[in-house]
Amino acid sequence: MSQERRHSRPTARASLKAAKAGAKKKILVLHGPNLNLLGTREPEHYGKTSLARINDELVKRAKTAGATLECYQSNVEGELVNRIQQAAAEGVDFIIINPAAYTHTSVAIRDALAAVKVPFVEVHLSNIYRREAFRHRSYFSDLAVGCISGLGAAGYELALEYALCHPPES
Ligand code: DQA
Repeated sequence: MSQERRHSRPTARASLKAAKAGAKKKILVLHGPNLNLLGTREPEHYGKTSLARINDELVKRAKTAGATLECYQSNVEGELVNRIQQAAAEGVDFIIINPAAYTHTSVAIRDALAAVKVPFVEVHLSNIYRREAFRHRSYFSDLAVGCISGLGAAGYELALEYALCHPPES
């Protein structure tokens, strides 16, 4: 192939970048098991705000910023794995995830995030380092862009602010 020809054909990466330019940023928020009970579940750890309220605020904020945001909660590990794989196929740009109890157990969800390579922030409502020792280990933190733990529902909002400007040039 001539030098000229090679340069005239865009690479797959350049085509993807071009297709994405001007497209709305897509953000996915994933909630793990028992987070559907927020509002009534152990409010001393998780606060009194319901999951619906948290999600509504995130959707509103994303919309104002010109991004799309979808929330998904499941009590089932495999469903979270499937949603992460689907996110890659949909071209999701950023994931905010509270893996809840799976934080401390799930190699499967970790592997899904590693496989799709979508950047993500790990969020916990409670400060997992101030709680039982088994909560101190996360299968996600070393893969995450960053972690927010202990700031309640504000943790999701802060993660979203980060997602909206990540990467800085997009
Ligand atoms: C949690 C902390 C986890 O240890 C726990 O299993 C949860 C919620 C949090 O948001 O603080 O379900 O992820």
